[in-house]
Amino acid sequence: MARERRRRGPEKAARRDGGAGVGAGPAARPGRGWALLALAALGLAAGLAYGLYGRWRLARRVVTPHPAPRVLPAGTTGPRAAPERFWGSYRPHVYFGMRPRSPRPPVAGLMWLLQTAEPQLRHTCEQSDGLPRYGWLLHDGLRFGAQEIRDRGLVLRTEFVKRLGGEHGGDWSWRITARPEGVGDQTSLLSLFFYVATDGQGTLQPHLEGTRLVSVTGTSEELGSFNITFHKPTTESGEALKYASYNHLDARSPGLHRLTDVVKNSLSNRFVYAAPGGPKRRYFAVHTFPVLSEELGQAPHSHLLLHQVTLQPPCHVEVTFESGSFLGRPGSLVGRALTEELAHHVAAFEQRFEETFALGRKGFPLQQQRFAQAALSNMLGGMGYFHGHSLVQSAHSQQPLPYLEGSLFTAVPSRSFFPRGFLWDEGFHQLLLARWDPALSREVIAYWLDLMNVEGWIPREQILGDEARAKVPPEFILQHNEAANPPTLFLALEQLLREPAQGPAELAYLRRLYPRLRTWYEWYNSTQVGPLPYTFRWRGRDPDTNLFLNPKTLTSGLDDYPRASHPSPAERHLDLRCWMALASGVMAEVAEQLGEPAAEYRLMQQALSDNAQLEQQHWAEQLGMFADYGNHSEAVVLEREKVRVPPGRPQPPARLVRVVRKPPMLQFVGALGYVSLFPLLLQLLQPSSPHLGRILGDMRSEQKLWTPYGLRSLAPTSPLYMKHNTEHDPPYWRGAIWVNMNYLAVRALHHYARREGPYRHQAAELYHELRANLLSNLYRQYAESGYLWEQYSDSTGRGQGCYPFTGWSALVVLLMAEEY
Ligand SMILES: *[C@@H]1O[C@H](CO)[C@@H](O)[C@H](O)[C@H]1NC(C)=O
Ligand SMILES: *[C@@H]1O[C@H](CO)[C@@H](O)[C@H](O)[C@H]1NC(C)=O
Ligand SMILES: *[C@@H]1O[C@H](CO)[C@@H](O)[C@H](O)[C@H]1NC(C)=O
Repeated sequence: MARERRRRGPEKAARRDGGAGVGAGPAARPGRGWALLALAALGLAAGLAYGLYGRWRLARRVVTPHPAPRVLPAGTTGPRAAPERFWGSYRPHVYFGMRPRSPRPPVAGLMWLLQTAEPQLRHTCEQSDGLPRYGWLLHDGLRFGAQEIRDRGLVLRTEFVKRLGGEHGGDWSWRITARPEGVGDQTSLLSLFFYVATDGQGTLQPHLEGTRLVSVTGTSEELGSFNITFHKPTTESGEALKYASYNHLDARSPGLHRLTDVVKNSLSNRFVYAAPGGPKRRYFAVHTFPVLSEELGQAPHSHLLLHQVTLQPPCHVEVTFESGSFLGRPGSLVGRALTEELAHHVAAFEQRFEETFALGRKGFPLQQQRFAQAALSNMLGGMGYFHGHSLVQSAHSQQPLPYLEGSLFTAVPSRSFFPRGFLWDEGFHQLLLARWDPALSREVIAYWLDLMNVEGWIPREQILGDEARAKVPPEFILQHNEAANPPTLFLALEQLLREPAQGPAELAYLRRLYPRLRTWYEWYNSTQVGPLPYTFRWRGRDPDTNLFLNPKTLTSGLDDYPRASHPSPAERHLDLRCWMALASGVMAEVAEQLGEPAAEYRLMQQALSDNAQLEQQHWAEQLGMFADYGNHSEAVVLEREKVRVPPGRPQPPARLVRVVRKPPMLQFVGALGYVSLFPLLLQLLQPSSPHLGRILGDMRSEQKLWTPYGLRSLAPTSPLYMKHNTEHDPPYWRGAIWVNMNYLAVRALHHYARREGPYRHQAAELYHELRANLLSNLYRQYAESGYLWEQYSDSTGRGQGCYPFTGWSALVVLLMAEEY
């Protein structure tokens, strides 16, 4: 079932205080004549105007860009400066498609349909399609990728390879291989639909031979002139296929987000497939007349040209994109030339993978190496390029405002369920990508920081453009500017700072980044402060305590992880404090490298990681754990509301409401789980700390956090373990095993196993056991289910939540490689 992970913005009523004294004009005293009255009226009007202006100005701040020069100035990521990254599989929400890194380019993609009794058009990645397996097996993030998709007895292999040349990002070729799953099996007839579509600019021209769309020529701002050729299908050995049937569509769509609808609406089964010697069969095909945009109720924005080929697998179908400015190409990249090019890239990928992660050398069997290759490839193949603006709301405005128009190049948590950027996920993604391609990571971090406003805020969920928006229910689109998210990009930066090659280019990069990093840090350090010095508090918790067993803290990333039962300004959140310690340390290091004043950051880091101070503010002696502090009661339950209705009237359905059995008081929050581990996870604890022994004990205890599959998020001894938060809100971070936190745990154990101290051996033992448990379960689940998952059951180890989830669950590669 679909979860609403991190989707829910805090449903906060717009506040009405203007902040700048609306209507604070001077009051007129009575009896002083018209002149005074007039003056007073003027003053009042001016005051009113000033107040309105002040409010407007405050409200505009949320959409005012940061004044520092962009880390990535216009053009630096375009086809001339970075041709090798211009085209890519940057449309992670479709099963197979490509676009260049520019705001509104023409895009290309694949749809398919098995001509069965219940034909289903496949296009965007949907969990409801129920595909038993799909994902990239190999993808270098740059030049090539190979994906395998299984759909009801059919195996589709989708491959692309790029070839640089000219001034517009060069050429690319696709090869789709379709074959039945089992040897000797036969699938139904298969229709493959290849399309190219504009997004507001550029022109496309179809070239037909009968009903067959042979090629498309086009032009656009960023691509210049180009052509796309749909080659005739062949057998797997390259001979012409005996028979195939062709249809095409030339249509207008309101936008790229409606392409599936346009194609669906144009399908009809009045076409006949008549292979010589075989039975005549009716099949579904697109009409050869345009579907009028009026039927879709919106103005056309997109021109769609689509080539449909219907055939009996097995087969190969190839498509080539050729750029007009690429002169003197050595011939089209098709057939044998394409086969050779693909083989060359496969070999190069495998060699680089082994050089980077050394899994062969570590003795992993081939199947597990393939699993790790797929995990990395899916994170790379899940990278997307998005353009548009978020919708944001400031506390100072009653209306949502469009945020700065911007572009984002980012990995995504899940191609089906979360195909867009999430701030805190991204820090974890980059831990893996920085090992594979540090330059890529630097660029992604720059894209994120360039989305910052003048306040230092970055919206935590990036829903840019129509296609991204189409995947999000309207009520979750709005982003609030008091909402934080763990600043995990500091984890990635810390990793990048450790890269051996720190030359002038890396320093120049840091220098560009620095003004934004400072403001980002200050934003956290001012807007998320806690009640005491060096304490912190997540803003934006669910305000309506009556409806939730425990008001959620979406901003922390840990959604429903139990916090103080009654949100209040007296709260101090342990995880945020630890994140701030990390951020302070990385800021100090960056400042030192740049020769900027670093003392303030160092002091802050020292204060935040001072073990005595940490204990004073977060060690709960009675509970024997590090904990949050706040206005809290453990005695809360959800009960059916009793509504009295007059006799004879129907009883309305009773809703669940929270009943507080014992009044809350200021105390530590008893919830042993990921939050309690933070001083260990982010390595703030001294190796000699006696609390380290206690924490390691809790981690290893099967009654508490240990399972054969990894560390669970919340101990069964915690009152809210596996509890629903509302009727419709099942437990999320209340027991399940999450890979990002387990990665931090393994990394920390590795750290403590290498430091002198009384718990060194215990840490080393746990390190080996936890790592082995995670590896064997993640691999087993992948082998059985075909996917990496969002989370894993703490009782059975089974993957659950959404899939494929090759965001932070792909950190399994670093666990295998022992790279921390
Ligand atoms: C496509 O464009 C390339 C380069 O401009 C050209 O060599 C080729 O002949 C064109 N192919 C078609 C089918 O138009
Ligand atoms: C963070 O904020 C505190 C005040 O709450 C201030 O004393 C401290 O200097 C700030 N730290 C940095 C590094 O800006
Ligand atoms: C704790 O919450 C209760 C119920 O909302 C409230 O009456 C009380 O004042 C709060 N106490 C503190 C210290 O915030």
